[in-house]
Amino acid sequence: MLVTVLDDASEMAAVAADRVEAVCATTDHPVLGLATGSSPLALYAELVGRHRAGRISFARATSFNLDEYVGLPAGHPQSYIRFIRRNFTDLVDLPAEAVHVPDGNAPDTHAAALAYDHAIRDAGGIDIQVLGIGSDGHVGFNEPGGSLASRTHVGVLTSQTRHDNARFFDGDLDQVPTRCITQGLGTIMESRHAVLLATGEQKARAVRELVEGPVSARWPATVLQFHPDLLVVLDRSAAQLLELADFYAEVSTAGSIAR
Ligand code: F6R
Repeated sequence: MLVTVLDDASEMAAVAADRVEAVCATTDHPVLGLATGSSPLALYAELVGRHRAGRISFARATSFNLDEYVGLPAGHPQSYIRFIRRNFTDLVDLPAEAVHVPDGNAPDTHAAALAYDHAIRDAGGIDIQVLGIGSDGHVGFNEPGGSLASRTHVGVLTSQTRHDNARFFDGDLDQVPTRCITQGLGTIMESRHAVLLATGEQKARAVRELVEGPVSARWPATVLQFHPDLLVVLDRSAAQLLELADFYAEVSTAGSIAR
C-alpha cells in the first residue's frame, strides 16, 4: 500500500488518473473496476478531459462497476448504472456493451451476483480497480461483519451507509434502498492494481483503520492491506488521524507517485 496525502481535489484526481492511465497503457484490452459516489467524480472528470485531449482511449476497454442497489426502479437517476454512464462511460469512447453493472432488478439477485463474479473472471480479471471508502469502513458495499474473502453477493446496507447516501435521495432515508449487489472483498482483492480515494473528515476514522489498523471484519477495507498494488489518495482531512501522516505526505508528492 502506498499512501499519498495531497492538498487539493485536482491534484488527487491527476495522481489517480495517472495511475489509471499507466495501467491501461500496459494492456491492449484494459478491464476497469469502477466505483460510484462522490469520491471518484474528479478522477472521472480528469479521465474524460484526457480522453477529449486525445491522450487516452477506452475503445478497447471493458468496465465492471463495484455495486448496484437492489430494487431501484429501472432508469432511476441514482442507480449506479445511470451514475456511471452519466459521469464517465458515456463521456468517453468506452463501448456501451462493454459497461457492466450488477443487475439490481434481476428476478434472482443471488444468481445475478454469481453470474457477475463469473463475468469478471471471464473478462480476465480487473486490471485497475477504482475504490472509495464508506465512513463505516466498507469498500464496494461490503459492510462490517462480512467475510473478508467474499465473492460478489447480495448484501444489506448499514443504517450508517443509508444515512450517508440519503444526500443522493433528497435527504429522504426511506428512499435509500436497504440491499445491494456488491463485488465481494475476495473479488476486489483479485484486481491487479487499485486506487482508493477519500476526502473529508467523515472518512478519517475509516482511513485510519484502513491504513494503520488491525485487519478485521469490523473495518472491511482493512483487508486491502493485503492488496498487492494499492495506491491510497487522501486529502488532509481524511488523513488527519493517521499516526504517520507527516511521513506519508513527505514521501508521496504528486510527482514521485505518478512516475
Ligand atoms: C460505490 C461504493 C462505495 C463508495 C463509498 C464512498 O460504488 O462502492 O464503497 O465508494 O460508499 O462513497 P462516497 O464516495 O460517495 O463518499
